[in-house]
Amino acid sequence: MSLQRFGVSMEASLLQRFDRLVRERGYASRSEAIRDMVRNWLVERSWQEEAAEVAGTITLLYDHHQSGLSDLLNDLQHGYHGRILSTMHIHLDHAMCLEVLAVRGGARELSEVAEKLISVRGVKHGKLTMTSTGKEL
Ligand code: NI
Repeated sequence: MSLQRFGVSMEASLLQRFDRLVRERGYASRSEAIRDMVRNWLVERSWQEEAAEVAGTITLLYDHHQSGLSDLLNDLQHGYHGRILSTMHIHLDHAMCLEVLAVRGGARELSEVAEKLISVRGVKHGKLTMTSTGKEL
């Protein structure tokens, strides 16, 4: 298999952080790390295209002092009650809340649920993790 090269432009500060991560994760080179990321993306993508059932978690970090945010997140979650199996809410400190949602369904659908929740203004960080249940939808 022949390897092809391509150039990547990014801010110096971003590259510095990337290089630190490459070292920490034990990659031999930037190229190896980028190949791994691309493969992960492609795996996620293929999940989204296939009619396979997945289970996973959606993690949300937000400041509950932000006006209307808790209500909005709650409303959204009720809209997906069939996909959200369980939620865990942790009050990290006076302001910050950590929420972990256990979810199950089609990968594309769960990605949509996660995107809707994570893109809500005031959600500081969010992440969807998925694993295949081995079942067809
Ligand atoms: Ni809280």
